[in-house]
Amino acid sequence: MMLQKARHPELRQALEQHRTETEQQIQRLEQIIQRSGGATMQVEDEIMPAILRENQKMQAMIGSDELSDVSLIAGAQIGEHYEIAAYGTAAAHAKLLGRQEDLQLLLQTLEEEKRTDELLTRIAERSVNQQAQA
Ligand SMILES: [Fe+2]
Repeated sequence: MMLQKARHPELRQALEQHRTETEQQIQRLEQIIQRSGGATMQVEDEIMPAILRENQKMQAMIGSDELSDVSLIAGAQIGEHYEIAAYGTAAAHAKLLGRQEDLQLLLQTLEEEKRTDELLTRIAERSVNQQAQA
């Protein structure tokens, strides 16, 4: 949804790449859940849809093409920060429980989230924010 609205090619590419990463992250989570004997339950996360809804609201309020990417990056980074907090906590507990394999998978995901966040900052600083100022 954010991807379709992205205008700047670098932003589009970053969001596209992270969508692929997200699919792998889901598989890692399923692996971890299966290893611990749990069933992949139907527990809906209510935070991420709320973040996306807030971003849609922001998009609608902005109404300017130049600022659209700025607000997309803001929304994507809010989402990434939420994921960094969640995966960071999960990794800390996997470590405490001595679940090495789970820990490795969670750290891999955590690293991808942090990299995406940093990439979004770079894209904003290098081009999107400046275009919005013009
Ligand atoms: Fe993410």
